[in-house]
Amino acid sequence: MEAVSVRFISRAETVPLRRARLNPDLTPEEAERNAQGHTDAFQCGTFIGGTLLSVVTFHPEAVPSHPGGLSPPPFSHPWRLRALATAAGQEGKGLARLAIGFGLRHLFSTAPPGSTGVWLYGRAAAYGFYDRLGFSRAGLTFTTDTGPHDLFWICGPLA
Ligand SMILES: CC(C)(COP(=O)(O)OP(=O)(O)OC[C@H]1O[C@@H](n2cnc3c(N)ncnc32)[C@H](O)[C@@H]1OP(=O)(O)O)[C@@H](O)C(=O)NCCC(=O)NCCS
Repeated sequence: MEAVSVRFISRAETVPLRRARLNPDLTPEEAERNAQGHTDAFQCGTFIGGTLLSVVTFHPEAVPSHPGGLSPPPFSHPWRLRALATAAGQEGKGLARLAIGFGLRHLFSTAPPGSTGVWLYGRAAAYGFYDRLGFSRAGLTFTTDTGPHDLFWICGPLA
């Protein structure tokens, strides 16, 4: 059985999985442009053997205001989690959990206590996943062209 590993990856490495799982209607060129990120972003990837099978991106971004729902604590250092994708046929093996766990450990290992939080907009199909990992959910569903979303956040590494 091939070994599972997780490490930092480049932005470019995330593009094929992002496109396949999140933006299948984009051309490769559009997907590349869509993945142009924040200069302070970092990306994590989970591999089985040498094959990259799950990706996630983190970058600093203020928590948006959504009146009418629960609000995340007022983080002084807010980070946004984006573009989480596991390769089709590889779900349920803990690969996304590993990628997110690696990124959160990196962020929270250097963060002053109480100052850093991570938020995201989750798709309805992934609500159960973020619940399972211990993210809090604001409960203020809104709809975009990719369907219903909710705001999630977490204030420390995965349990
Ligand atoms: C959502 C997604 C990233 C999950 O990736 P994954 O590698 O299958 O997730 P993991 O195997 O690490 O799952 C961790 C746990 O969450 C559970 N889980 C995974 N997806 C779930 C879902 N959609 N609903 C409920 N639970 C889920 C797993 O069963 C596992 O549970 P366990 O702790 O009991 O073993 C993957 O399904 C995907 O790429 N979907 C398409 C793109 C997408 O929707 N991205 C998120 C946009 S917000």
